[in-house]
Amino acid sequence: MGTNFSDVVRDDPTNNVPDTIFSKLGLQLHRRNNHPLGILKNGIYEYFDTNFPNMFHKFDDLCPVVSVKQNFDDVLVPADHVSRSYNDTYYVDSQTVLRCHTSAHQAELLRRGHTHFLVTGDVYRRDSIDSTHYPVFHQMEGVRVFTPDNWEASGLDPTSYAAEDLKKSLEGLARHLFGAVEMRWIDAYFPFTNPSYELEIYFQGKWMEVLGCGVMEQEILKSNGRSNSVAWALGLGLERLAMVLFDIPDIRLFWSTDERFTSQFSEGQMGVKFKPFSKYPPCYKDMSFWINDSFTENNLCEVIRGIAGDLVEEVSLIDNFTNKKGMTSHCYRIAYRSMERSLTDEEINDLQWQVREQVQNKLNVVLR
Ligand code: PHE
Repeated sequence: MGTNFSDVVRDDPTNNVPDTIFSKLGLQLHRRNNHPLGILKNGIYEYFDTNFPNMFHKFDDLCPVVSVKQNFDDVLVPADHVSRSYNDTYYVDSQTVLRCHTSAHQAELLRRGHTHFLVTGDVYRRDSIDSTHYPVFHQMEGVRVFTPDNWEASGLDPTSYAAEDLKKSLEGLARHLFGAVEMRWIDAYFPFTNPSYELEIYFQGKWMEVLGCGVMEQEILKSNGRSNSVAWALGLGLERLAMVLFDIPDIRLFWSTDERFTSQFSEGQMGVKFKPFSKYPPCYKDMSFWINDSFTENNLCEVIRGIAGDLVEEVSLIDNFTNKKGMTSHCYRIAYRSMERSLTDEEINDLQWQVREQVQNKLNVVLR
């Protein structure tokens, strides 16, 4: 498709997409066959191709810049849902966002007549900073539509039929990826599915969420030309699974261009264990300030990421109190650490000074 992102208007007053995020558009890590995310995507494709030959149409190049309607309205996200806020989602303008999930494509693909599809893509969410959260990550969406001839012979009602098929298919997928693991289904909530579930597996000594899924809300099918149908839908986060399958300890590594990372992975090699190259020491800096009513941790993290980029490993709230006058103070600890080299004191001090200055100016907080 070759989307040209320079066409995206960025000077709208409602735009909250910083350069660090904008520069990730078009990188499409999931389309690199030698990258853990591409290897995992292909591994999932392999499961569907083997078990459902020629059934699922695969999309991995749909544009991540979508309308508010596609991202939220079409999948029945309530008007007052937090995920719509500027604090959680990147808005290009008031009607356009960087998709926060691949579910943004469900409705349009149904409308275009697709009944079995997988959509893989980069998704964007404003969030806090730690080793498993990064504002850009990758998801795969799966949808399968059934018509009356599918469920009539089963003796089940359409919803139960779809739910059973969903569970069977996804247990197979989990076994394909993780081997003979213990699994359990947890009831969940998503605005676009009912019933909704999460699949967990018992892996490396603990229960781990693998994906979210459910039976698609009838309203979505009806509005998109599939009145006489039921469907299941699933969404899984590729990084979360790749981190455990390949032993990748920090989510920033997926973006690394260091050969010591990239050379360890090759096409078709599912689950080769990453060998960490020497771990460089972290450096911690604390900062305390009086917050105001509009302060959010996501905003703080974005300022820090804007300055330190991938050198920031974690931002954590280590102290929080309110004084007699009702003023609230937060103390955050910032861990700086490069995946690739040792940082000098000088370099970190310089970053920290910039952070202090911008946090004060952009977030209107009072440093202590
Ligand atoms: N879109 C959901 C998320 O991002 C995942 C999901 C997809 C859940 C499809 C159910 C069905 O969390």
